[in-house]
Amino acid sequence: MHPDVEKLFASEEQLKGIIARLGAQITADYAGKKPLFVGVLRGCFVFMADLVRACNLPCTIDFMVVSSYGAGTTSTGAVKIVKDLTENIEGRDVIIVEDILDSGNTLSYLRKYMLARKPASIRIVTLLDKPERRTADVQADYVGFTIPDAFVVGYGLDYNEEYRNLPYIGVLKPEIYS
Ligand code: IMP
Ligand code: MG
Repeated sequence: MHPDVEKLFASEEQLKGIIARLGAQITADYAGKKPLFVGVLRGCFVFMADLVRACNLPCTIDFMVVSSYGAGTTSTGAVKIVKDLTENIEGRDVIIVEDILDSGNTLSYLRKYMLARKPASIRIVTLLDKPERRTADVQADYVGFTIPDAFVVGYGLDYNEEYRNLPYIGVLKPEIYS
């Protein structure tokens, strides 16, 4: 394990199992439809690549880049769109793909932003959910793992842009960010 990681949260095997479960659920729920997956970069990139391959459906993908975090571990509250949607989402069944739902600021903002563009439906899939830290009124429709209030990295998730390439999810040692 990486020396900055205090303990393992989810192994590669556990991630595989969870993503297969999410993919099967989405495949069943969207039968006969062609959803548009919208990933929130950069954290979603590993999860989304695995998730779409676990969905046995015709689908298209798009990405947005938002920034809500500086170099710290807590949200600033402000969400800035760095890269907007490329696709027209009007009439589409949109599935927003997030790495982690924390305060909820990012997703509550993005949900409203996309709703204004008149999609047929919007659902949210998040790999990790930290409900204890929620301040905004937003819930995910599909959740991989519910996690306690700890800072985790790997499988796309970063601290200061590092650790995204770890193939597992681990709890970062507090001394790294304190
Ligand atoms: P929210 O707007 O507070 O819900 O923040 C969501 C974003 O914060 C996620 O997309 C992550 O980029 C980041 N984030 C929140 N908690 C963690 C964590 O434990 N590890 C890494 N990134 C996190
Ligand atoms: Mg992120």
